[in-house]
Amino acid sequence: MKFGLPLAVLALASSAAAHFTLDYPTTRGFDEDKEDDNFCGGFSNVSLPRQPWYYRNGPVQIDSHHDSATVNIYISFDVPTGSESFLKTSNGTSVPPLRQNLAIKGEGEFCFHANASSLDVPGVRVADGTNATIMVEFISVHGHLYQCSDVSFTSNASVGANLTCTDSLTSGSTSSSSNSSSASPASTSSTPAPSKANGAVATALPRIALLVLPALLAGALASVSM
Ligand SMILES: *[C@@H]1O[C@H](CO)[C@@H](O)[C@H](O)[C@H]1NC(C)=O
Ligand SMILES: *[C@@H]1O[C@H](CO)[C@@H](O)[C@H](O)[C@H]1NC(C)=O
Ligand SMILES: *[C@@H]1O[C@H](CO)[C@@H](O)[C@H](O)[C@H]1NC(C)=O
Ligand SMILES: *[C@@H]1O[C@H](CO)[C@@H](O)[C@H](O)[C@H]1NC(C)=O
Ligand SMILES: *[C@@H]1O[C@H](CO)[C@@H](O)[C@H](O)[C@H]1NC(C)=O
Ligand SMILES: *[C@@H]1O[C@H](CO)[C@@H](O)[C@H](O)[C@H]1NC(C)=O
Ligand SMILES: *[C@@H]1O[C@H](CO)[C@@H](O)[C@H](O)[C@H]1NC(C)=O
Repeated sequence: MKFGLPLAVLALASSAAAHFTLDYPTTRGFDEDKEDDNFCGGFSNVSLPRQPWYYRNGPVQIDSHHDSATVNIYISFDVPTGSESFLKTSNGTSVPPLRQNLAIKGEGEFCFHANASSLDVPGVRVADGTNATIMVEFISVHGHLYQCSDVSFTSNASVGANLTCTDSLTSGSTSSSSNSSSASPASTSSTPAPSKANGAVATALPRIALLVLPALLAGALASVSM
């Protein structure tokens, strides 16, 4: 009457399929085995040509292969050299996330719009022709996964507008420069959003441990109590 083992086996089986793809703008590259590499899922070089992306409210579309996840969308205005490039500019100015604590439920396509103009980073020119790299962080019980896209800003609102892309979160707040420690109440889903999303890039490993440990403990308790 040990239910601990089947639980553990189930967890392992589902982790193999628990990934996501970045479908728009085009990803730098996808390798399921490296998708947990911070940064950019193991693809550390810029991929040319840069994709034009409507910077005033462009879509970011992913395909989730996990039934529940939290998504953060970061941006770097430099040629990124590490995870910290998505938190600060090369001279140390903080860069807020484009979107954060987006709780999604169910597998399939999800789309978020983001407005880079609203970030207002001192010293960063946000305009037609500005280069940037967008990084999507996908957090599930199996850990943190990353995908990047290298873009060139366009003010042409038609670019990307032909995607069938309705924002996955309907209640208000678009990208914001709000302080990152407050979980967004805008989510229509009930998934508890992890706090301090702004530190998520830098602290992926400890948080994986936090997420996995309770599951292991629960499994152990289940097998003991049966
Ligand atoms: C990335 O760029 C570096 C420096 O230009 C180069 O040495 C390396 O081979 C590149 N990596 C890949 C995967 O293309
Ligand atoms: C994007 O943000 C800028 C600056 O806050 C604002 O002026 C503009 O209206 C926003 N664009 C959209 C489409 O919401
Ligand atoms: C960072 O560099 C940019 C461009 O060189 C400059 O405009 C901006 O003021 C600098 N920011 C800080 C905080 O030094
Ligand atoms: C933008 O990126 C392209 C390709 O990497 C590069 O050729 C161009 O000089 C960059 N533009 C600016 C303003 O840095
Ligand atoms: C804007 O983008 C659309 C879609 O890519 C394109 O058809 C159109 O020609 C562009 N407009 C301008 C002024 O570049
Ligand atoms: C949207 O338009 C672009 C450029 O015109 C095209 O490459 C792309 O296939 C279109 N996407 C869809 C979903 O129609
Ligand atoms: C973030 O927090 C700081 C200090 O608490 C505050 O001054 C600032 O206005 C806040 N920014 C936003 C966008 O809420």
